[in-house]
Amino acid sequence: MFQFNKQKIVVANWKMNPNSYDEVVNLLNLYIENINNNKINLDKINFVVAPPAVYMSNIYLQLKQYKINKIYLSAQNICWETHGAFTGELSANSFKSIGCELVIIGHSERRTYNQETNELIAKKFLIAINSGLIPIVCVGENKTEFGEQKTWQILEQQLFFIERFLEKKAINSDKCKFLIAYEPVWAIGTGVSADLAYIAKIADYIKQKLDMLNLKNFKILYGGSVNANNAKSILQISNIDGILVGGSSFDIEQLTKICNY
Ligand code: PGA
Repeated sequence: MFQFNKQKIVVANWKMNPNSYDEVVNLLNLYIENINNNKINLDKINFVVAPPAVYMSNIYLQLKQYKINKIYLSAQNICWETHGAFTGELSANSFKSIGCELVIIGHSERRTYNQETNELIAKKFLIAINSGLIPIVCVGENKTEFGEQKTWQILEQQLFFIERFLEKKAINSDKCKFLIAYEPVWAIGTGVSADLAYIAKIADYIKQKLDMLNLKNFKILYGGSVNANNAKSILQISNIDGILVGGSSFDIEQLTKICNY
Protein backbone atom coordinates (compact mmCIF):
# COMPACT_ATOMS: atom_id res chain seq x y z
CA MET A 1 0.00 0.00 0.00
CA PHE A 2 1.26 3.45 -0.84
CA GLN A 3 2.24 5.28 2.31
CA PHE A 4 3.99 8.49 3.08
CA ASN A 5 7.41 7.69 4.47
CA LYS A 6 10.83 9.29 4.66
CA GLN A 7 11.71 8.35 1.10
CA LYS A 8 11.37 10.88 -1.69
CA ILE A 9 8.42 10.24 -3.98
CA VAL A 10 8.99 9.73 -7.70
CA VAL A 11 5.85 9.78 -9.84
CA ALA A 12 6.30 8.61 -13.43
CA ASN A 13 3.59 10.24 -15.51
CA TRP A 14 3.55 8.35 -18.79
CA LYS A 15 0.87 10.66 -20.19
CA MET A 16 -0.47 9.14 -23.47
CA ASN A 17 2.60 6.90 -23.88
CA PRO A 18 3.48 4.26 -24.98
CA ASN A 19 1.16 4.07 -27.94
CA SER A 20 0.70 0.28 -28.07
CA TYR A 21 0.48 -2.58 -25.60
CA ASP A 22 3.63 -4.19 -27.04
CA GLU A 23 5.60 -1.06 -26.23
CA VAL A 24 4.15 -1.02 -22.71
CA VAL A 25 5.36 -4.57 -22.16
CA ASN A 26 8.82 -3.56 -23.38
CA LEU A 27 8.98 -0.53 -21.13
CA LEU A 28 7.68 -2.43 -18.13
CA ASN A 29 10.22 -5.20 -18.75
CA LEU A 30 12.99 -2.59 -18.69
CA TYR A 31 11.62 -1.22 -15.41
CA ILE A 32 11.45 -4.76 -13.95
CA GLU A 33 14.92 -5.68 -15.18
CA ASN A 34 16.44 -2.60 -13.54
CA ILE A 35 14.56 -3.27 -10.32
CA ASN A 36 15.60 -6.92 -10.23
CA ASN A 37 19.26 -6.15 -10.84
CA ASN A 38 19.13 -3.37 -8.24
CA LYS A 39 19.77 -0.51 -10.63
CA ILE A 40 16.51 0.88 -9.28
CA ASN A 41 16.16 0.32 -5.54
CA LEU A 42 12.53 0.60 -4.52
CA ASP A 43 13.50 0.77 -0.83
CA LYS A 44 15.16 4.11 -1.46
CA ILE A 45 12.31 5.87 -3.22
CA ASN A 46 8.55 5.85 -3.00
CA PHE A 47 7.76 5.02 -6.61
CA VAL A 48 4.47 5.64 -8.41
CA VAL A 49 3.64 4.98 -12.06
CA ALA A 50 0.73 6.68 -13.82
CA PRO A 51 0.18 4.76 -17.06
CA PRO A 52 -2.63 5.31 -19.55
CA ALA A 53 -5.76 3.79 -17.99
CA VAL A 54 -6.22 1.22 -20.73
CA TYR A 55 -3.04 -0.62 -19.67
CA MET A 56 -3.42 -0.41 -15.92
CA SER A 57 -4.97 -3.81 -15.17
CA ASN A 58 -2.36 -5.64 -17.21
CA ILE A 59 0.45 -3.71 -15.57
CA TYR A 60 -0.97 -4.47 -12.13
CA LEU A 61 -1.12 -8.19 -12.92
CA GLN A 62 2.34 -8.24 -14.43
CA LEU A 63 3.85 -6.53 -11.38
CA LYS A 64 2.08 -9.05 -9.17
CA GLN A 65 3.44 -11.91 -11.25
CA TYR A 66 6.98 -10.55 -10.80
CA LYS A 67 6.28 -9.99 -7.09
CA ILE A 68 7.02 -6.29 -7.38
CA ASN A 69 4.83 -4.74 -4.72
CA LYS A 70 6.55 -1.39 -4.39
CA ILE A 71 5.43 0.21 -7.60
CA TYR A 72 2.21 2.01 -6.80
CA LEU A 73 -0.24 2.78 -9.57
CA SER A 74 -1.86 6.14 -10.23
CA ALA A 75 -4.62 7.10 -12.64
CA GLN A 76 -4.07 10.20 -14.77
CA ASN A 77 -7.65 11.37 -14.38
CA ILE A 78 -11.04 10.32 -13.00
CA CYS A 79 -14.66 11.30 -13.65
CA TRP A 80 -16.17 14.17 -11.65
CA GLU A 81 -19.12 11.89 -10.74
CA THR A 82 -19.00 8.61 -8.85
CA HIS A 83 -20.95 6.45 -11.34
CA GLY A 84 -23.65 6.52 -13.97
CA ALA A 85 -24.24 7.49 -17.59
CA PHE A 86 -20.99 9.26 -18.51
CA THR A 87 -19.85 7.68 -21.75
CA GLY A 88 -16.10 7.53 -22.08
CA GLU A 89 -15.41 8.47 -18.45
CA LEU A 90 -13.74 6.29 -15.81
CA SER A 91 -14.80 6.32 -12.17
CA ALA A 92 -12.56 6.57 -9.11
CA ASN A 93 -14.05 3.35 -7.73
CA SER A 94 -13.33 1.42 -10.90
CA PHE A 95 -9.67 2.42 -10.62
CA LYS A 96 -9.58 1.55 -6.94
CA SER A 97 -11.02 -1.89 -7.70
CA ILE A 98 -8.13 -2.83 -10.02
CA GLY A 99 -5.31 -1.99 -7.63
CA CYS A 100 -4.85 1.70 -8.37
CA GLU A 101 -4.06 3.82 -5.29
CA LEU A 102 -3.53 7.38 -6.47
CA VAL A 103 -4.86 9.76 -9.11
CA ILE A 104 -3.44 12.82 -10.80
CA ILE A 105 -6.01 15.59 -10.97
CA GLY A 106 -5.84 19.06 -12.45
CA HIS A 107 -2.87 18.40 -14.67
CA SER A 108 -2.25 21.52 -16.77
CA GLU A 109 -2.71 19.52 -19.98
CA ARG A 110 -6.23 18.67 -18.83
CA ARG A 111 -6.85 22.24 -17.69
CA THR A 112 -5.81 23.42 -21.17
CA TYR A 113 -7.13 20.76 -23.56
CA ASN A 114 -10.19 19.65 -21.60
CA GLN A 115 -11.07 23.05 -20.13
CA GLU A 116 -10.92 21.68 -16.60
CA THR A 117 -11.74 24.39 -14.06
CA ASN A 118 -10.81 24.69 -10.39
CA GLU A 119 -14.45 23.82 -9.60
CA LEU A 120 -14.29 20.58 -11.55
CA ILE A 121 -10.94 19.69 -10.01
CA ALA A 122 -12.41 20.29 -6.54
CA LYS A 123 -15.17 17.80 -7.34
CA LYS A 124 -12.65 15.22 -8.49
CA PHE A 125 -10.57 15.77 -5.35
CA LEU A 126 -13.54 14.97 -3.13
CA ILE A 127 -14.49 11.94 -5.18
CA ALA A 128 -10.92 10.63 -5.03
CA ILE A 129 -10.72 11.09 -1.25
CA ASN A 130 -14.12 9.45 -0.70
CA SER A 131 -13.15 6.52 -2.92
CA GLY A 132 -9.88 5.94 -1.10
CA LEU A 133 -7.64 7.19 -3.91
CA ILE A 134 -4.87 9.63 -2.97
CA PRO A 135 -5.15 12.72 -5.16
CA ILE A 136 -2.05 14.29 -6.70
CA VAL A 137 -3.30 17.81 -7.34
CA CYS A 138 -1.36 19.66 -10.01
CA VAL A 139 -1.09 23.41 -9.64
CA GLY A 140 1.07 26.08 -11.23
CA GLU A 141 1.20 29.25 -13.23
CA ASN A 142 1.54 29.71 -16.97
CA LYS A 143 4.09 31.91 -18.71
CA THR A 144 2.11 35.14 -18.43
CA GLU A 145 1.48 34.52 -14.74
CA PHE A 146 5.15 33.86 -13.94
CA GLY A 147 6.59 35.66 -10.90
CA GLU A 148 6.28 34.95 -7.18
CA GLN A 149 3.40 37.31 -6.37
CA LYS A 150 1.32 36.33 -9.40
CA THR A 151 2.01 32.65 -8.83
CA TRP A 152 0.89 32.88 -5.21
CA GLN A 153 -2.38 34.39 -6.41
CA ILE A 154 -2.86 31.58 -8.92
CA LEU A 155 -2.08 28.95 -6.29
CA GLU A 156 -4.50 30.66 -3.91
CA GLN A 157 -7.27 30.21 -6.50
CA GLN A 158 -6.23 26.68 -7.43
CA LEU A 159 -6.08 25.49 -3.82
CA PHE A 160 -9.01 27.43 -2.40
CA PHE A 161 -11.29 24.41 -2.59
CA ILE A 162 -9.35 22.68 0.20
CA GLU A 163 -10.20 25.51 2.59
CA ARG A 164 -13.83 25.41 1.48
CA PHE A 165 -14.09 21.65 2.01
CA LEU A 166 -12.55 21.97 5.48
CA GLU A 167 -15.03 24.70 6.42
CA LYS A 168 -17.92 22.60 5.17
CA LYS A 169 -16.43 19.58 6.96
CA ALA A 170 -16.50 17.70 3.65
CA ILE A 171 -12.95 16.59 4.44
CA ASN A 172 -11.18 15.98 7.72
CA SER A 173 -7.88 17.79 8.29
CA ASP A 174 -6.33 14.83 10.18
CA LYS A 175 -7.33 12.11 7.76
CA CYS A 176 -7.30 13.81 4.39
CA LYS A 177 -4.20 12.55 2.58
CA PHE A 178 -3.02 14.11 -0.68
CA LEU A 179 -0.09 15.38 -2.73
CA ILE A 180 0.31 18.77 -4.33
CA ALA A 181 2.42 18.81 -7.47
CA TYR A 182 3.72 22.28 -8.21
CA GLU A 183 4.18 22.27 -11.98
CA PRO A 184 4.85 25.63 -13.62
CA VAL A 185 3.09 25.21 -16.95
CA TRP A 186 5.90 27.00 -18.81
CA ALA A 187 8.40 24.38 -17.61
CA ILE A 188 6.44 21.27 -18.62
CA GLY A 189 7.90 19.45 -21.61
CA THR A 190 10.28 22.30 -22.45
CA GLY A 191 13.53 20.83 -21.18
CA VAL A 192 13.93 23.83 -18.86
CA SER A 193 12.85 23.41 -15.26
CA ALA A 194 12.17 26.29 -12.91
CA ASP A 195 15.20 27.49 -10.98
CA LEU A 196 15.85 26.02 -7.57
CA ALA A 197 15.38 29.19 -5.52
CA TYR A 198 12.07 29.84 -7.23
CA ILE A 199 10.82 26.27 -6.64
CA ALA A 200 11.90 26.58 -3.00
CA LYS A 201 9.90 29.79 -2.49
CA ILE A 202 6.78 28.36 -4.07
CA ALA A 203 7.10 25.11 -2.08
CA ASP A 204 7.49 27.13 1.15
CA TYR A 205 4.37 29.09 0.26
CA ILE A 206 2.33 25.91 -0.37
CA LYS A 207 3.62 24.33 2.83
CA GLN A 208 2.81 27.41 4.92
CA LYS A 209 -0.64 27.67 3.43
CA LEU A 210 -1.52 24.04 4.14
CA ASP A 211 0.06 24.15 7.61
CA MET A 212 -2.16 27.13 8.41
CA LEU A 213 -5.16 24.94 7.60
CA ASN A 214 -3.87 22.40 10.11
CA LEU A 215 -3.42 19.79 7.41
CA LYS A 216 -0.89 17.11 8.31
CA ASN A 217 -1.08 14.42 5.66
CA PHE A 218 0.27 16.03 2.55
CA LYS A 219 3.43 16.04 0.47
CA ILE A 220 4.70 18.54 -2.07
CA LEU A 221 6.13 17.52 -5.43
CA TYR A 222 7.76 19.50 -8.19
CA GLY A 223 7.14 18.72 -11.86
CA GLY A 224 8.25 20.32 -15.12
CA SER A 225 11.24 19.06 -17.13
CA VAL A 226 12.71 16.97 -14.35
CA ASN A 227 15.57 14.88 -15.75
CA ALA A 228 18.68 12.97 -14.71
CA ASN A 229 20.68 16.20 -14.42
CA ASN A 230 18.38 18.25 -12.23
CA ALA A 231 16.49 15.63 -10.14
CA LYS A 232 19.01 15.57 -7.30
CA SER A 233 19.15 19.31 -6.73
CA ILE A 234 15.35 19.60 -6.95
CA LEU A 235 14.91 16.77 -4.45
CA GLN A 236 17.28 18.51 -2.03
CA ILE A 237 14.98 21.53 -1.69
CA SER A 238 13.72 21.43 1.88
CA ASN A 239 9.96 21.47 1.30
CA ILE A 240 10.04 19.30 -1.80
CA ASP A 241 9.11 15.70 -0.99
CA GLY A 242 9.22 14.33 -4.49
CA ILE A 243 9.02 14.86 -8.23
CA LEU A 244 6.46 14.32 -10.97
CA VAL A 245 8.33 13.18 -14.05
CA GLY A 246 6.83 13.18 -17.53
CA GLY A 247 9.08 12.79 -20.58
CA SER A 248 12.03 11.33 -18.66
CA SER A 249 9.89 8.59 -17.10
CA PHE A 250 9.55 6.55 -20.27
CA ASP A 251 13.26 6.81 -21.04
CA ILE A 252 14.66 3.99 -18.90
CA GLU A 253 18.18 5.45 -18.67
CA GLN A 254 16.96 8.83 -17.51
CA LEU A 255 14.48 7.27 -15.12
CA THR A 256 17.09 4.95 -13.60
CA LYS A 257 19.42 7.89 -12.99
CA ILE A 258 16.59 9.93 -11.52
CA CYS A 259 15.73 7.10 -9.12
CA ASN A 260 19.39 7.07 -8.02
CA TYR A 261 19.44 10.85 -7.60
P1 PGA B 1 7.71 16.76 -18.19
O1 PGA B 1 6.17 16.61 -17.72
O2 PGA B 1 8.54 16.07 -17.15
O3 PGA B 1 7.75 16.10 -19.52
O4 PGA B 1 7.99 18.23 -18.24
C1 PGA B 1 5.81 16.72 -16.38
C2 PGA B 1 4.31 16.60 -16.25
O5 PGA B 1 3.60 17.05 -17.16
O6 PGA B 1 3.80 16.07 -15.27
